[in-house]
Amino acid sequence: MIDERYILKTYNRLDLEIDKIRGNYIYTTDGKKYLDFFSGISVNNLGYDKDVIKAMTDKMQSYTHISNYFADKDRSELAKALIENSIDGKVFFTNSGAESSEAALKLVRKCGKSNGKYKILTAENSFHGRTTGALALTGQKKYQKDFEPLISGVEHFVFNDSDSLISMVDEHTSAVFLEPVQGEGGVIPLTAEFVRTLSKLREKYNLILVMDEIQTGLRRCGTLFAYENYNIKPDLIMLAKSLGGGLPLGAVIISKKLENVIGVGDHGSTFGGNPVACAGGLAVFKKINDENFVMSMKKNADYLYNELSSLKEKFSGVIKDLRGISMMLGLEVGENASIIRDRAVKEGVLLNVTGRTVIRIIPPLTVDSNDIDLFVNVFRKIISTL
Ligand SMILES: Cc1ncc(COP(=O)(O)O)c(C=O)c1O
Repeated sequence: MIDERYILKTYNRLDLEIDKIRGNYIYTTDGKKYLDFFSGISVNNLGYDKDVIKAMTDKMQSYTHISNYFADKDRSELAKALIENSIDGKVFFTNSGAESSEAALKLVRKCGKSNGKYKILTAENSFHGRTTGALALTGQKKYQKDFEPLISGVEHFVFNDSDSLISMVDEHTSAVFLEPVQGEGGVIPLTAEFVRTLSKLREKYNLILVMDEIQTGLRRCGTLFAYENYNIKPDLIMLAKSLGGGLPLGAVIISKKLENVIGVGDHGSTFGGNPVACAGGLAVFKKINDENFVMSMKKNADYLYNELSSLKEKFSGVIKDLRGISMMLGLEVGENASIIRDRAVKEGVLLNVTGRTVIRIIPPLTVDSNDIDLFVNVFRKIISTL
């Protein structure tokens, strides 16, 4: 493929060239059709959605860019919708997850400067992005080692291990960054017990809690934000991925008590909050908050989970664990993960592997019982031969 000759190889690409996406199906240039249980790694959460595309194309007739020196109605409306549905404060728009991490990192750092709190904690096996600041937050040595030294003052606790967190928090700790469900780390949800410990420490040390909802947010985990599955409210919420309906858009939602930390000249972005992406984002937001959409998604998520539970029971030799929340599920299948993924492609289903041994199930939130049946049948056929 021409792709291999001219594009830097930073991904192990499948040998598929995409023609178009329609609903929850991807069509390749050689005329084949695939069920999309990959969804652009949780970006195409609505599959191909006509209303989102219309909002974007309508906006493009007016303008594609205005800079952050001018107000854009859709951008303001999207910020309002995010705030009214999460924590009161302000929004800073970015273009990607890593940029949301960078913005949150700078805010936390500036805050810590004024009160001697130089330490930031994130979890081992976490993923917060690959730019150098975000990479320092990402608790995975394999991604960091060739690029050290990274910024100082970031330390990593063991995810879901209360004792580990307790042993690392002190009066110099400014913030804890956390994914409600570790995505790249293997689809591992936070435990309620760990969240209780975190809440106590947060109160005692006045910690800033930063929730990385880049993958889990915007209905992926059933609730609008995954933190709603736990008894906790963050101070900062990082978003990206599905926010722009397929265009690059990210955001940091900043609570009232922190909204004056970053001011004019402290941070910025030429493209952040692009008007076309925000128009798409607003259309996405309306859709995922529609009552009928939420009900239907819940029904389908329950159906998916029940079908996978039955498979796990029947094929316990292959499926060691099923975990996750709503439409973000992980199947622990050991060394079989890449074999299953490759065979699924041949059977017309696109799957994603994470943490080397986990099939990450992150379909568009719009999948119905027919799509789920197709996936489950293909999956059953493959694992019954292993
Ligand atoms: C939880 C989380 N944070 C941050 C990122 C980085 O986002 P991006 O690739 O848009 O920079 C990702 C991407 O996979 C992610 O899953």
